[in-house]
Amino acid sequence: MKKVFVEVPKHLGTSQPKALYILFFAELWERFSFYGMRALLILYMTSELLFNDTKAYNIYGIYTALVYAAPVIGGYLADNYLGNRNAIFLGGVIITLGHCCLALPFKESLFYGLAFIIVGTGFFKANVTSLLGQFYEKGDVRRDAGFTLFYMGINLGACLAPLVCGYIGKKLGWHYGFGTAGIGMLLGMVVLLRSAQTLEGAGSPPAKINLKQPLGGGLTPYRLVVIGSILSVALFSLCLNFYHVMGHFLNIFGIISLVWVLGIAYRCERDDRKAILTLLVMFLFFMIFWAGYEQAGSSINLFTDRHVDRFLFGWEIPVPWFQSIPPFFVITMAPLFSAIWMKLGRRNLEPLPPTKFGLGLLQSGLGFGCLLIGIKTADTQGVTSAIWLILAYFFHASGELSISPVGLSMVTKLSPPRFVSFMMGILFLSVSFGNYLAALVARIFGAPEQPLQTSDKLGSLQCFSHTYEFLAYFLLIASIAMFLISPFIRKVFEKHL
Ligand code: PHE
Repeated sequence: MKKVFVEVPKHLGTSQPKALYILFFAELWERFSFYGMRALLILYMTSELLFNDTKAYNIYGIYTALVYAAPVIGGYLADNYLGNRNAIFLGGVIITLGHCCLALPFKESLFYGLAFIIVGTGFFKANVTSLLGQFYEKGDVRRDAGFTLFYMGINLGACLAPLVCGYIGKKLGWHYGFGTAGIGMLLGMVVLLRSAQTLEGAGSPPAKINLKQPLGGGLTPYRLVVIGSILSVALFSLCLNFYHVMGHFLNIFGIISLVWVLGIAYRCERDDRKAILTLLVMFLFFMIFWAGYEQAGSSINLFTDRHVDRFLFGWEIPVPWFQSIPPFFVITMAPLFSAIWMKLGRRNLEPLPPTKFGLGLLQSGLGFGCLLIGIKTADTQGVTSAIWLILAYFFHASGELSISPVGLSMVTKLSPPRFVSFMMGILFLSVSFGNYLAALVARIFGAPEQPLQTSDKLGSLQCFSHTYEFLAYFLLIASIAMFLISPFIRKVFEKHL
């Protein structure tokens, strides 16, 4: 397949748009707050609130699933009413409120805090990505490099947060750790507010919408969205309370979304239909990847706490710090991956997304293989060397680099233009289901039916072993399936290169 190189229009130059740097820092701090809190969450639930593992995995799974499902609605509201910019500001304020709630020294504030973060992320996350996309014209060759930088910002936040919030949370108290995460989001808001003019009016509401138009009773469209958000916070905190039945609702939401996408595909002409159906197949594998990767914040965090030798020259490394390893590897290896793809690309050898997905799934499976070796070589106290954990994270991060950025750009290339945002929302939904599945697997395979004695280290090790063995095989089979399917869908990708 011959590639056509597009010349950069002279007026664009090679430097990135200023907005990239603003959105880079805004997203960095938003992710700082998300991952700082995430590094503490399961540890807080199991060791401070004394939830058993089943309950903790359940709540964690529902929370993370909702966090990534909400952007589907936030994206829709932004496209049709709010505009990306308003949605991002509103989201930032709501997320900050969520962290303030978690910083309060009351156990009861947990579900409210998480619910605020779900709603806020719904407004923030997808819209910040779409807004960035608006600063590149069609065929702009700076786009991929810009998005790679942006992805590094995400991981910089994710890498710093567990170090800072984890240290403070463990040293001064959980709520101080959660509060520190909130300071991150506040800094993100400051960045946005100070540089709003750099966004050059991009991401405004649709022309026909006047958000301040009086609707009677003191209501305006904007106020309605704010009221809806407050009601959603109440709804989501209820969802977290009824975590045991929420799985059914998520399944129904998933089925409705699938039918909706199939309906859209059915109404499209042949080529677009093929592209949408191909994306759906890819999303299935995307979901499986995150079901493995997202063990990090839940079961691997607990495994690190309970079974990993964390002493370095007599000093005990705080458990949350290990959460910084995957994003660290992502940041350091991202330039290498870009260089490899570009080098192969110049010789027309760059693999297509299905091959990259297959490789990513394989690497993730290998990561769980490393954890299994760690478990097999644990001492009689059930403690194993940190090397296996670090190796596992290495493979997970290289898997992420083979899958995640590829997945995002694949959506922008394959989706028919009028459905790009919508399909991006569906990609987020597949991440949401991946998170739900991650917690489900951890719970089914790894949560003991009867509470274990704290002294039963080997029994506890067995539970983790079941989870990771299942995931190693599952990811290996998924990788083989991806390679087998790949010849059937490659034409669609070649057409949209
Ligand atoms: N590490 C990524 C992030 O936090 C995970 C992700 C990828 C989430 C793709 C959504 C979509 O942003």
